[in-house]
Amino acid sequence: MKDNQQEIFPVVDEEGMIVGKATRGECHSGSRLLHPVVHLHVFNAQGDVYLQKRPEWKDIQPGKWDTAVGGHLDYGETPEEALRREVREELGITDFEPQFIGKYVFESQRERELVYVHRTTYNGEIKPSQDELDGGRFWTMQEISEATGKHSLTPNFEHEFQRFFLSKIKKYRILTKQIHALIEGETDHIALMANVCAAIHEAMGFFWTGFYRVVDGELLLGPFQGPVACMHIQFGRGVCGTAWEQRQTIVVPDVELFPGHIACSSLSRSEIVVPVMTKDGKVVAVLDIDSKELGTFDDIDRQYLEEICKMLASV
Ligand code: SME
Repeated sequence: MKDNQQEIFPVVDEEGMIVGKATRGECHSGSRLLHPVVHLHVFNAQGDVYLQKRPEWKDIQPGKWDTAVGGHLDYGETPEEALRREVREELGITDFEPQFIGKYVFESQRERELVYVHRTTYNGEIKPSQDELDGGRFWTMQEISEATGKHSLTPNFEHEFQRFFLSKIKKYRILTKQIHALIEGETDHIALMANVCAAIHEAMGFFWTGFYRVVDGELLLGPFQGPVACMHIQFGRGVCGTAWEQRQTIVVPDVELFPGHIACSSLSRSEIVVPVMTKDGKVVAVLDIDSKELGTFDDIDRQYLEEICKMLASV
């Protein structure tokens, strides 16, 4: 197999607005025409990352391990349409929920791409295309760290993964250690919550980070960092009351799409709420974090914030 050099790609500006068109050959010949691509990082429930192996016939980075799915937008396609098409063609997956993480310009000597980065968690069967790929498998974070810089991963994957995922994991690891030390020997819950939310807020740069405590059958505002917030939330209301009711973490990629979301600030775009539960499953508080960006929170946040809430609940 071989790439069709006559395929037509849109040419875009850095915002993604279409400003023209060009062939694959023109885009990949050092012309530096900016053309859009979509990427999908696939995680499983354990937090491992699926990588695809690029076949030897590829015109760019043959034989290397790469982001699970990557592909160009056809002329006239939206990023979402291109993503669904590529994911179906490359991995045989149709039932996934993509989360848009951000876009950036990737430049090499051969090309300039506007990359739309997405992630998903997927536990179903993956059937890598026999025509387009040389197979694929899940890698642990450890394996990826060890392989980085040794020429078996594409430079684009290494750079993108570092930028969007590893830097976040590193920050959470340091934060978790710091909180562990903060908690040690302390017993007052309000003082602990005050320092824990300050530590999270400072380390991660979120928009609003705070606790609501269960007091007299409702959620009452507790220690927090950020702008003033609503003080009382009823059981089952808003994201916080829902996390309390369901006794589980709730990740909201776009607050406008969450029915009953309580807007304490119009600047908040995405949110995560983690219940603080005693060993016997009783919710004593919730940790609520808001971001000014869409789709800020994913399984990495969930995993580390749940660990932090567990440490707090064990006091
Ligand atoms: N958005 C929350 C309310 C609390 S503020 O975000 C600080 C909710 O819907 O429960």
